[in-house]
Amino acid sequence: MASRDVAERARYLRESLHEHNHRYFVLDAPSISDAAYDALLRELIQIESEHPELVTPDSPTQRVGAPPLAAFETVRHRVPMMSLANAFDEDELRAFDQRVRRALEDDAVEYVAELKIDGVAITLSYEDGLFTRGATRGDGVEGEDVTQNLRTVGSIPMRLNRPYTLDVRGEVFMSKAGFSALNERREAEGSPLFANPRNASAGSLRQLDPQVTAGRPLDGFFYQIGFIDEATFDEARPQTHWESLELLRTLGLKVNPNATLCHDIEAVIEYCRKWSEERPELPYEIDGVVVKVNRLAAHERLGATAKTPRWATAYKFPAEQAVTVVEEIGVNVGRTGAVTPMAFLRPVRVAGTTVSRATLHNEDFIRQKDIRIGDTVVIQKAGDIIPEVVRVDLAKRTGDERIFTMPTECPDCGGLVVRPEGEAVARCVNSECPAQLVEGLVHFASRAAMDIEGLGPAVATALVEKGYVRNVADLYRLTMEQIAGLERMGEKSASNLLAALETSKERGFARLLYALGVRHVGAGTAAALAEHFGSMEALMRSDVEQLESVPDVGPKVAESVVAYFSEPQNQRLVRELGEAGVRLMEEASVAEGPKPLEGKRFVLTGTLAGMSRSEAEEKIRALGGLTSGSVSRKTDYVVVGENPGSKAEKARDLGVAIIDEAELSALLDEKE
Ligand code: IVH
Repeated sequence: MASRDVAERARYLRESLHEHNHRYFVLDAPSISDAAYDALLRELIQIESEHPELVTPDSPTQRVGAPPLAAFETVRHRVPMMSLANAFDEDELRAFDQRVRRALEDDAVEYVAELKIDGVAITLSYEDGLFTRGATRGDGVEGEDVTQNLRTVGSIPMRLNRPYTLDVRGEVFMSKAGFSALNERREAEGSPLFANPRNASAGSLRQLDPQVTAGRPLDGFFYQIGFIDEATFDEARPQTHWESLELLRTLGLKVNPNATLCHDIEAVIEYCRKWSEERPELPYEIDGVVVKVNRLAAHERLGATAKTPRWATAYKFPAEQAVTVVEEIGVNVGRTGAVTPMAFLRPVRVAGTTVSRATLHNEDFIRQKDIRIGDTVVIQKAGDIIPEVVRVDLAKRTGDERIFTMPTECPDCGGLVVRPEGEAVARCVNSECPAQLVEGLVHFASRAAMDIEGLGPAVATALVEKGYVRNVADLYRLTMEQIAGLERMGEKSASNLLAALETSKERGFARLLYALGVRHVGAGTAAALAEHFGSMEALMRSDVEQLESVPDVGPKVAESVVAYFSEPQNQRLVRELGEAGVRLMEEASVAEGPKPLEGKRFVLTGTLAGMSRSEAEEKIRALGGLTSGSVSRKTDYVVVGENPGSKAEKARDLGVAIIDEAELSALLDEKE
């Protein structure tokens, strides 16, 4: 082929692939088979490999292939990505409408009602029609540059149908089916499962290697124009939000088909009712409805508060509920001996998962709700995660239901269960209770504690049942024969466990202290105590006053630590650990090594993508930083992950520096 023809053919292939891509991913109406599409793509790849000068940045071949990144760059949004105020019921929607109409001095205000997609908010930037950058919301002002990952998402066009320069805002999400398939695949591979499609989307979007993202079933819906460069625009600008959605569609972006123009708030309420009912039938998850004033001129007039626009609100659906039967009520004995009643339910689907248990918290909760064995109950997932019993359907009572009474003896050890005056929680007071011991061993071995791989609940239970382990020090006396003799334990796993135990001896004081499970001493507090006292010995000698002089340590923690170490049994335990070779001080090299984050106080909030929160905290502490669970004026940095809680707001109010995961990683790398 003559070179002009080759160039022409490449252009033709790009155009048709672009078109078929749009039909397949955006319109969901493909007109050729997958095989035919692949043939076109292969031909283009072939031409581009022979004529690299013909590769264009928006070529469909450029979606995957970017090399992995070391970290995401932080980018500043051209227009801040604000969030929305919430309305939790119909009256709050009417109140929103009242405020809007009063401010606009207008009796008739039109709204657009849209589904609130439960995904990850992003902004796409196009320059002269070419996709140039995509970023996560971050704190709304700055986000992470995830351009390479967004290129792999089929429904995001690499080029718009018009050469405009603009920013669009939308949601990257995973369909329910895509999510299930991904989790099935992960289960088969032995990888940890994602809790829900939103977490799966967030995790997939924040992969440093775009190849990994490319293998994830991500999709997107776009719903808002952020910024427009007028100079590149050659048609009448949209006057209403409804027209903006139409424009987004024309440009080739995927717009949710269920948006509706509503003539008044009652029509919006009708829409909310409809989708709250029909939500389970949608192929993707939504968590509410977004209501927007239609006229864009009104947006300008209404303006925004510090965080949210006054022209929109998010109606949040009530938690998803289901009806089932309490088949039995049992109790669970925790690490601290807390005896928690649990309802065993007839399995029922709610908010995407099968639920067969619900916590009943404590005796008072059961009394207040009058929950009996055999009752028909309404359950819901609070925050769509932990199931709880909302109420009993008294009309279904037959008279055969049984009232549950808290056991007076621990179901595991027969020890006394005591509920102190004025407290809600009942506890097994036998400190050698095997159920507590098992929970205690599992905690001791957990990642943020001694990180002993292979010591999970099953192995811990077996070790306790055999009588090999009566306290955590016994773990370090286990022999190869003992471990290999446990059920379902081969020689290989046994020697792995022994090796893991050996390695764990070097974790150092802070992690050991956390691992011991002293009440009220979390990982952050343990690190602060370890930092202050330097060794277990010094800590054991300290009194309440000395303890309270440690930052973040209050009377509750101080008293708990003193009480723990005043028990002769616990003193013996620490001695035995020391004799077994477990390090009772911080590691010498770390203690004496450079501590670039010395004295800096960090608070972490939200979900991090690249590491668990405890891993991040551990890294901070290894460099001399301190971690705490609450933000105060003394906090130096608040690290915000995905879906941060109120801590981020508090930090903003107090003027504390807010950084995201990428900045934290940069800080850690730089200092390491
Ligand atoms: S509009 C300034 N529309 O819900 C207006 N948001 O707190 C920006 N969301 O952060 C938001 N579906 O991530 C809008 N159809 C929709 C949406 C939507 C989901 C998310 C978005 C936003 C959050 C609201």
